[in-house]
Amino acid sequence: MVEINGSVVAITGASSGIGAAAARALAAEGAKVVIGARRAERLKELAAELNGSATVVEMDVRKSEDSQKLVEAALDAHGRLDTIVVNAGIGVYGGIMDMSDQQIEEMIETNVSGTVWPIRAAVPLLLKGDGGDIVIVASVAGLRGAGDEAVYAATKFAQVGLAGALDRELREKGIRVTAICPGGVATEFAMGTGRTPDMPGLEEMLRPEDVAAAIVSVLKQPRTMRSLVWSMRSIHEPD
Ligand SMILES: NC(=O)c1ccc[n+]([C@@H]2O[C@H](COP(=O)([O-])OP(=O)(O)OC[C@H]3O[C@@H](n4cnc5c(N)ncnc54)[C@H](OP(=O)(O)O)[C@@H]3O)[C@@H](O)[C@H]2O)c1
Repeated sequence: MVEINGSVVAITGASSGIGAAAARALAAEGAKVVIGARRAERLKELAAELNGSATVVEMDVRKSEDSQKLVEAALDAHGRLDTIVVNAGIGVYGGIMDMSDQQIEEMIETNVSGTVWPIRAAVPLLLKGDGGDIVIVASVAGLRGAGDEAVYAATKFAQVGLAGALDRELREKGIRVTAICPGGVATEFAMGTGRTPDMPGLEEMLRPEDVAAAIVSVLKQPRTMRSLVWSMRSIHEPD
């Protein structure tokens, strides 16, 4: 197993849900986390909870220069970057004709451009280290799209396609690329689809901590192996 104690991990979308859970899980393993999102107050609260092992970066993944800020913060604080967890994302559900142009543009910019910019910013630093990792939090919607999520599924298929192609581009240079594809996870994102915390479906979903544990596990795998796509579901979720 690879030791991640002391490694430097940048995470997008760390102000809530899976990203925040990943920051907690990685910090518990001794990693230094560089946490990015738009809601700086949430990030500061998380950093306070993590007792100095986190660096906060207010950023919008839709802007390439903000992704540069994220990796530069890692460089300033720790002199290197070992892993980037590309997790920030939004989902709007409904039929293709039920969404506004703006909702579609925001989803594509956040989920597709907002995946490409942090990776482009991180790769030069990852190449300088002794083996880097890119972990993309995609979705089961990146493997098969449900009927009410065509555009969301398109963005998540884009992430899975990007991960596969990047693996072919970067594996021989020592960088592993993994797409994690969860089913429903009980986060603010899931609530946004019309659910409320008291609805029974929510407690039967994956927990953000489950996805965080998968991220930790991917990073700890011996560097003689790589996980390309990790598809995960709650035990209650039908196929
Ligand atoms: N929950 C699910 O059922 C589920 C299932 C499969 C995959 N996923 C994926 O998991 C990822 C994380 O979602 P989650 O479930 O943890 O939901 P969440 O709690 O809503 O977290 C989403 C995160 O993305 C950040 N974000 C959104 N737009 C951003 C932007 N323009 N710039 C920077 N950060 C931005 C949010 O931070 P700010 O708002 O502070 O910027 C927040 O930290 C997403 O990519 C989602 O597609 C979720």
